[in-house]
Amino acid sequence: MTLQEEIGRRRTFAIISHPDAGKTTLTEKLLLFGGAIHIAGAVKSNKIKKTATSDWMEIEKQRGISVATSVMGFEYRGYKINILDTPGHQDFAEDTFRTLTAVDSVIIVIDSAKGVEMQTRRLMEVCRMRKTPVMVFINKMDREGKDPFDLLDEVEEELGIHVRPLSWPINMGLRFKGVYNIYQDKLNLYTPDKQRVSETIAVDLQSKELDQHVGEEDADKLRQDLELIEGVYDPFNIQDYLAGNLAPVFFGSALNTFGVNELLDCFVEIAPSPRSIQANERMVNPTEEKFSGFIFKIHANMDPNHRSCIAFVKVCSGKFERNVYYRHIRHDKQMRFSSPTAFMAQKKETVDEAYAGDIVGLPDTGNFKIGDTLTEGELLHFKGLPSFSPEMFKYIENADPMKQKQLDKGINQLMDEGVAQLFVNQNTGRKIIGTVGQLQFEVIQYRLLHEYGAQCKWEPISLYKACWIESDNEAELALFKKRKAQYMAYDKEGRDVFLADSNYVLQMAQNDFKNIRFHFTSEF
Ligand code: G4P
Repeated sequence: MTLQEEIGRRRTFAIISHPDAGKTTLTEKLLLFGGAIHIAGAVKSNKIKKTATSDWMEIEKQRGISVATSVMGFEYRGYKINILDTPGHQDFAEDTFRTLTAVDSVIIVIDSAKGVEMQTRRLMEVCRMRKTPVMVFINKMDREGKDPFDLLDEVEEELGIHVRPLSWPINMGLRFKGVYNIYQDKLNLYTPDKQRVSETIAVDLQSKELDQHVGEEDADKLRQDLELIEGVYDPFNIQDYLAGNLAPVFFGSALNTFGVNELLDCFVEIAPSPRSIQANERMVNPTEEKFSGFIFKIHANMDPNHRSCIAFVKVCSGKFERNVYYRHIRHDKQMRFSSPTAFMAQKKETVDEAYAGDIVGLPDTGNFKIGDTLTEGELLHFKGLPSFSPEMFKYIENADPMKQKQLDKGINQLMDEGVAQLFVNQNTGRKIIGTVGQLQFEVIQYRLLHEYGAQCKWEPISLYKACWIESDNEAELALFKKRKAQYMAYDKEGRDVFLADSNYVLQMAQNDFKNIRFHFTSEF
């Protein structure tokens, strides 16, 4: 196969959802179709249950599972599919944001009874920023849920994207009979079955056979619904989907394997193969001969005896090869990798080569940080995902004066891994850690102790948001920094950050200093 063909058959995507909508179940069913697993129940949820917050070892175990399922590769109808797993727990939302930098498209799972939920909205914002094509799977149709038309409106409104149903449910809850596949113009009826892929029967929509299968009432309703859909929604336009403006919608029940096959078949046909990726220097095309890639995720080995990590590289162009020297741009040094790994059909194996779109795991002992670029020599810097303002802040203090060095080193490395964000107060030099959830503080404390032998303690600080500030008016910027000296900090790159302690203070600052731009993400 040529390089172009190899890359063209790749589909690298993530499934995102609010916890409990059915992401794990859908992933598992996709793997079943792909023959990567043979029985349901083989994929463990990496969900961190609420009760685990106080039990760090339990979290660790659960996080361990997520290493194994970080990337799931399998073959389906000649396509190479890579599903990137995202953490279910919202305290690790930053991990999910970063994973979204490495995918070419996304499937969003929505619970038909709950509709669009908070986590989904936030993740969709990231997809919108990056113009990632998204498909929507409305799940749990075997339960009583919201009206399908209402759900479509909700998705449009709440997620800010146009929708186009490509399958349509026939009733719901106990009366759910299957889905009409609009994309292929076929009716698919299913028998609920949790253990294996159900049989499908195709029927012509206009024939009386339809009435025989689903009953006269549901048959009429289906014909009416479809007519309404054709009237209200424009025909599906793949270009709009690829541009990230239009989301095709599928209905089904992942648990019962209803509608999953339609989703997958349509997905492989229309979802994009690896797309061009913007580097600071230029646009990089996936089919370029030369290899390039970037690190989007670092997974620490929680075993204190082996302080090694796996750095996950998304191959952006060309072909990655084992034991070939590549240039680590930030360190400007040549590195080669003797045991790069990939996950195929649930098995972790050493790979000799990987193509644009693939994800490779590189064993690492602290050489990498999130966003690092590897190339065959060219000076390239891929744009990472900006950091978002954290939502929780705490001072981090040394609890063991003999171990200051270890603490500093530990904090630096954990920040490189992207565990949380560090701010240093410009006035006092005190270190502030910002996170999106309480769990991250526990993770940091535990890891500092077990991996670096350092003890930290947390002290409260009441902050509302971190904003990166800039201005063309030097004098005004200087005045602002002087007035707000107590609240000024540097981020890891030494940029100015204003730590506002309330929404009110922030608004006042924005009012009083009209020439200063306040940004809530680190890339502007
Ligand atoms: P998540 O990864 O998005 O958090 O969701 P997950 O797949 O773990 O699913 C959450 C719960 O919803 C699970 O139940 C799962 O069985 C159920 N579920 C998923 N798809 C469907 C569906 O199509 N219909 C119905 N009725 N339920 C569905 P649980 O009780 O939390 O877990 P389990 O004990 O069943 O594993």
